[in-house]
Formats: sequence, structure tokens, C-alpha cells
Amino acid sequence: MLRQLLLAASRSERAEAIAKNTGAVRTAVRRFVAGETADDAVEVARALTARGLQVSIDHLGEDVVAEDQAEAAVRAYLTLLDRLYGAGLAAGADVSLKLSALGLRLSDRLAAENAARVCAAAARVHATVTVDMEEHTLVERTLSLVDELRKEHPTVGVVVQAYLRDAEERCRALAVPGSRVRLCKGAYEAPEAYAHTSPREVDLSFVRCLKILMTGQGYPMIATHDRRLIEIASALAVLNEREPGSFEYQMLYGVRPAEQRRLADLGAVVRVYVPYGDDWYAYLARRLAERPANLAFAARALLSP
Ligand code: FDA
Repeated sequence: MLRQLLLAASRSERAEAIAKNTGAVRTAVRRFVAGETADDAVEVARALTARGLQVSIDHLGEDVVAEDQAEAAVRAYLTLLDRLYGAGLAAGADVSLKLSALGLRLSDRLAAENAARVCAAAARVHATVTVDMEEHTLVERTLSLVDELRKEHPTVGVVVQAYLRDAEERCRALAVPGSRVRLCKGAYEAPEAYAHTSPREVDLSFVRCLKILMTGQGYPMIATHDRRLIEIASALAVLNEREPGSFEYQMLYGVRPAEQRRLADLGAVVRVYVPYGDDWYAYLARRLAERPANLAFAARALLSP
């Protein structure tokens, strides 16, 4: 119930205006968001890579409804890649893109052209791109645009959300040589016809997808903080004789940093998803929905002088 309320709040302009005008909320945001500028993101990337972790950087923003906003998002990514290159951090880094931030609500063509510009800039500095998956109504269009992008940029990664009922089918199609696939539970609201709703069903689907990806020939990117799922992934890696560099774990900036460290110390590739930018509201609301205990953290920030 609380989760649904928080997911509804993630789409409320009124709640967004209140949160953005509350200084203490902005302070709380810093736990999950690197900062507002590309330089802030680069500094966080520098600190994480110095500790043996990899990064995927996301310029916050989604659902743009005007071409100039989409253009601003592309420019933000070009600046970010340029700054990463200048800092000597671009090679091996990844950027995460939301196609709705690049104009998908306006047209597929605009989003495809904008994403191709970011992919080309990333390729020039030896960084990779992963396309985030958004709400269920955008899944088909996102997958077909990723297919198109892959013709020119074969390393572009895609996301499968285990809560979707067709997740296994997606994984089977994607477990092919050269394909980078991020498996996550799924963070958006979706109707029961399309998505498993009980946490247990979502976890079981995640495990079935994991088996397909870990026995397949692609590069699985296991995006979860769930200890049991991480243990199952590690066991599947051993069973399938996967070397550490043939798959990776991914976690969000600010979530379970000790677990990120533990896995990296064991020799695993661990990539931290680092969001930055001033459009942090919907991202933060989804993080609170995943773990309502984080509300206590936000409330403490609100109440502290
Ligand atoms: P779950 O939510 O069950 O959490 C397991 C445990 O992790 C919790 O008990 C808690 O200890 C800890 N935890 C989880 N979330 C926390 C939080 N916010 N704060 C503090 N502790 C927390 N989704 C999507 O729909 N499309 C996408 O493209 C992506 N991309 C993506 C990239 C990466 C790198 C990650 C890690 C996640 C995503 N997600 C996503 C989000 C994903 O779908 C999911 O909502 C979150 O990862 C939370 O699910 P867990 O698998 O961590 O399990």
C-alpha cells in the first residue's frame, strides 16, 4: 500500500514541487544522488573507481515532452563523457540512458537519433551505454530501438525487468554472444496482466531469468541488492564456470555499499549506478518505494536543524 502511494507520488507534480522546495529533502537526496553537475558525477566516479568499483552514470530526467528538453539531455551526456575522458575515467565506464529523457514520448525517430549520438560519443572514449527500461508501455519500443542501435553499436546494453511476465522469453532472446543484459526486479507500477505482483513471484522469476542468462552466451549484469539473489547468482557463476570478468553485479549508489565492497573484494566486477542532475525527484520516490524504511532517513533529515 505504502509502496503504491510512493509510486503514485513519483508521478505527482504537486508532491515534486513540495519536495524540491524543502531544503532538508535536498540534503537527504545526496545519499542516492551524486550531485547536480557532471563534475559532481565525475568526482563520485573517481572515488568509486579508486576503490576498485566500476560505474554506470545516469543523467537524471525522464518523460520529456519537448524537443529542446531532449536536446538538453543529449548535451548533458556529451558533456559528461567529455569530463570523464578529461579525468581519465571514460574507458570502461558506462552511461545509463532513459529513452523517455531523449524524446521517446515525442517520437521513436527522435529518441533513436539522440541515443545514437550518445552511443557514438561513448564509443569515441571507449565507454559503453546501457538503455534503462521504464514503464511497461515503453518496453516494446525500447527493445526495438535498442535492436536498431546495436547494428551500429553492438555493445549497447539492455535491461530485463523480472517482474514482467514475459521476462524469461526476453532473456532467452538476449542470451546471445556479445549481448549485455542487465537483470533487475523492476521499479515501476505495472498492471497484473503484465507483471507479477507478489515479491515471491518476482524473486522466482528473477531466479529463472538468472539461470537463462548465466547459462547463456551473453554478458549478464545482475542488478540487485537482494542478498539471496546475489548468493544464487554466485552459485550459478560457479556451476557454469563463469570467470569473474564474464558477468558483473550492479547496485545503486548509496544502497548497500558494504555489500558492493564485499563482492569487489572477492574479485567480482561490481558496477555502481550513479545518478546525477537536478531532476532527481522521480528517482528518489522510486528508491523510497523500494524500501519505505528510507522514509525514516528522509524524515530525520527533515527534522534535523
Ligand atoms: P529489494 O527491493 O527486494 O531489496 C533487497 C534488499 O536491498 C532490501 O531488503 C534492502 O536491504 C536493500 N535495498 C533495496 N533497495 C533499497 C533502497 N532503495 N534503499 C536502501 N536499501 C535498499 N528498475 C527498472 O525498472 N528499470 C531499470 O532500468 C533499472 N535499472 C537498475 C539499475 C541498477 C544498477 C539497479 C541496482 C537497479 C535498477 N532498477 C531498475 C531498480 C530495480 O528494478 C529495483 O527496483 C531495485 O534494485 C530494488 O530491488 P532489489 O533487487 O534490490 O530488491
